[in-house]
Amino acid sequence: MKNNKITVTQPSLPPLEEFMPYLQKIWESKVLTNNGPFHQQFEKELAEYLGVKYISLFTNGTLALITALQALKVTGEVITTPFSFVATTHSLWWNGIKPVFVDIEPDFCNLDAEKIESAITPQTTTIMPVHVYGNPCNVQRIKEIADNYGLKVIYDACHTFGVTLNNEPVLNFGDLSVMSFHATKVFNTFEGGAIICHDEAMKKRIDFLKNFGFAGETTVIAPGINAKMNEVQAAMGLLQLKYVDQNIAERQNICEQYRDQLKDVPGISFMNDTPGVKHCYSYFPVFVDENKYGLSRDSLYDKLKQHNIYARRYFYPLISQFSTYRNLDSALPGKLPTAEKIAEKVICLPLYSQLSNEIVNTITQIIKKQKK
Ligand SMILES: Cc1ncc(COP(=O)(O)O)c(C=O)c1O
Repeated sequence: MKNNKITVTQPSLPPLEEFMPYLQKIWESKVLTNNGPFHQQFEKELAEYLGVKYISLFTNGTLALITALQALKVTGEVITTPFSFVATTHSLWWNGIKPVFVDIEPDFCNLDAEKIESAITPQTTTIMPVHVYGNPCNVQRIKEIADNYGLKVIYDACHTFGVTLNNEPVLNFGDLSVMSFHATKVFNTFEGGAIICHDEAMKKRIDFLKNFGFAGETTVIAPGINAKMNEVQAAMGLLQLKYVDQNIAERQNICEQYRDQLKDVPGISFMNDTPGVKHCYSYFPVFVDENKYGLSRDSLYDKLKQHNIYARRYFYPLISQFSTYRNLDSALPGKLPTAEKIAEKVICLPLYSQLSNEIVNTITQIIKKQKK
């Protein structure tokens, strides 16, 4: 254990020998990208797996977010969360859009739907919430607000894979949802991403935009970008689909072990599964109450590191605290009290399908020993 670094995550990889025939086909066909056969097949099979109607594959989640905003022609101000990975807000910045941060709720760390209305101004056009850690946002309330005020909704669904709410895929809420298949995610295509939309015309527009705006050999309908998923990524995705259920089940098992072993530790709390939700177990965040636990979150983080366990403080600092954003009105200290508090308490423990029971036990023993 001493020399073996345990990172917060490790990519799930299928057996290499199963991937080789896909590579062979790519080499034989010489079709490497541009909506090749694996791309088409993966798009179809992924849509079926996720229970969505239209999906467009992307190079990565960040380009998918940037393109989603272009697809809906979003301008002005967008209401979003400070408690996410920086790419959520960076995608707004790259489109010249002003982010307006709204605080999160304490149960799931998602954008607090009840605080959205007070942040709406005449410039607000869109809400961009994140299903943080894969837990669904308050999608019904967000829909109600968006409908009342004539706003669009783009979900950053980069932490969700196959998550359902009362048997309905969460990806079916909002105008668009954006996914990431980065190496660190529950489902990876090395790098990768997707946009989910609900009608054919929108899918066409998104597909044009991710391919420079080309709508035909000599027709360019918009200043698009190059964000196409290549054939190697798509082949990887097809193969990963075979294993994703097993991976999620293994992750669930690890989360259950953590919960069982940490349930009686004073000052340590965590999220439980929500009735009616099929989870994907993308992260295992715990929250450290320094007064009750006897150590701060950062001390616990350092202590784990001394044992070669590299937990991560997702999401600290808040996006609103980075230099690009911290002078915005909505980002000023004290404006986002729940997010500010949680960012100081949260630490995500290692979670990946190959994580052994033994290591989970070691991690929880270290956490328990911090008690004074
Ligand atoms: C919430 C969130 N949004 C966006 C991204 C960006 O996705 P990608 O790394 O595929 O560009 C990530 C992850 O990396 C993420 O966690």
